Amino acid sequence: MERGEKLYEGKAKIIYATDDPDKNILYFKDDATAFNGAKKGSILDKGVINNKVSAKLFQMLAEKGIESHFIEMLSDREMLAKKVDIMLVEVVVRNYIAGSLAKRMGRSEGEKLPETIVEYYYKDDALNDPMINRDHILVFNIATAEQIDTARATALKVNQVLSAYLLERDILLVDFKLEFGNYHGQMLLADEICPDTCRLWDRHTLEKLDKDRFRRELGNVEEAYLEVCRRVCGDL
Ligand code: TMP
Repeated sequence: MERGEKLYEGKAKIIYATDDPDKNILYFKDDATAFNGAKKGSILDKGVINNKVSAKLFQMLAEKGIESHFIEMLSDREMLAKKVDIMLVEVVVRNYIAGSLAKRMGRSEGEKLPETIVEYYYKDDALNDPMINRDHILVFNIATAEQIDTARATALKVNQVLSAYLLERDILLVDFKLEFGNYHGQMLLADEICPDTCRLWDRHTLEKLDKDRFRRELGNVEEAYLEVCRRVCGDL
């Protein structure tokens, strides 16, 4: 499958058309940004790792009955995916208090939540991706009730399957962000699932093994991404 016209360049990926109108190629870059692009940098081989980790996790989820846009890995940095129309809602699932939830609620990081929390964010860089609720999504026609309810149910299922998969590899799934897209009327899991989009802590030491190492200048960023790749993609 050959790369066609460049359709879109985001902060971490470039999307290319292919000769099949139903398929795109995602090219994973090493560029890293945080705080809506205010902090810029690069993480050596991040693109290779995020492609590989995402491919492995999408395959694993498919085996558990959760479909995604993933078709196959084409190269180190390229993934072939179904061409979806991305829903402008980011779905965040939280199992432990961390990040913006800790800030918003004035709580310290690391406490296990008694129940899983699902949050929605409006995908709009100019507005800094504000948090919204289901009513906003419906009233402002960002998605239909069926679309957001399907996305929420899928996100909760992903949380169950992924938490268990990662725990077997000594990783706590603290929280994560998912994106969904419409593919001929079907809401499919899309984008990527990797250390950029999840908070992943070592089960025993609680060491951060994700993009917070970059966001918070904690050092050993590349080592953390490699460690996640080794645990997720390596055999048990
Ligand atoms: P938050 O605590 O900063 O709201 O982040 C929640 C989760 O979402 C965390 O796992 C990181 C992920 N995330 C993204 O993937 N992209 C983003 O732009 C942000 C802000 C968070």
